[in-house]
Amino acid sequence: MGSLLEIQNLKVKFYLDRHVITAVQGVNLELRAGETLVLAGESGSGKSVTALAVTRILPVNARVFSGKVIFKGRDLLSLDESSLSGVRGKEIAYIFQEPSGALNPVYTVGNQLIEPFILHQGKSPGQARREAEFLLSLVKIGDVKRVMESYPHQLSGGMNQRVFIAMSLACNPQILIADEPTTALDVTIEAEILKLLVELKKKIGFSLLFITHNLSIARRIAGRVCVMYKGSVVEEGGIEDIFNSPKHFHTRDLVSAYEKIGKI
Ligand SMILES: Nc1ncnc2c1ncn2[C@@H]1O[C@H](COP(=O)(O)OP(=O)(O)OP(=O)(O)O)[C@@H](O)[C@H]1O
Ligand SMILES: [Mg+2]
Repeated sequence: MGSLLEIQNLKVKFYLDRHVITAVQGVNLELRAGETLVLAGESGSGKSVTALAVTRILPVNARVFSGKVIFKGRDLLSLDESSLSGVRGKEIAYIFQEPSGALNPVYTVGNQLIEPFILHQGKSPGQARREAEFLLSLVKIGDVKRVMESYPHQLSGGMNQRVFIAMSLACNPQILIADEPTTALDVTIEAEILKLLVELKKKIGFSLLFITHNLSIARRIAGRVCVMYKGSVVEEGGIEDIFNSPKHFHTRDLVSAYEKIGKI
């Protein structure tokens, strides 16, 4: 498998009132075409900051201090803003933990799904509606018409996450970055969403970078795992190697947490 995205020596710092924190300390990471790579690690280890840096959607007080993000021969970190906006959310899409924060509460799901097709892809309202309905059926929403007419607060968390996944797929991304997309959901819904992501990946063919602190999820979806600890990647390997012979003590901690609680 060829490399699709290469993060090279990424360093990200946060500038606070009185001091500077280096949240990501020289990360190297390769996402290969068609694979599922899990980025694991304890809370605060730098997983989200690494993911957000890829398309430069970091918080305002963060700065990329050094590094490159190579995608299709270009360094996204040195791309001008208008070229990058053609990649962000389109070729590289995201889903996050809280879909409710990403969906607009004052528009119906249908309007939110339809609008980008009209504005960015120049489709007619009728075509845009059909595209939106197709996306909802792709994420296995049965009652498409009702969901199109609903506002996000009228839907369950799991349903909103499906809607958000549908939205992220609108531009047919090559890479989907999923940052703890099931953490806010109960375990049954979590299992359904994971299954859905695996199916969509197979069907659409995007590469999946999946972020989690929970190795039981990694075991259900991953081919390869990178483990982060305090801003660095400390271990990388096939999922079974990670479980059978973890080398770094933090990987061992994650595996023993899985063995205590995670076998679901
Ligand atoms: N908005 C912020 N302001 C200041 N520092 C931040 C901010 N966001 C993140 N950091 C710093 O960056 C580090 C890495 O944060 P990050 O959000 O990447 O962790 P994470 O691995 O995604 O954790 P979690 O599993 O809790 O989501 C944090 O420990 C913190 O020091
Ligand atoms: Mg995070």
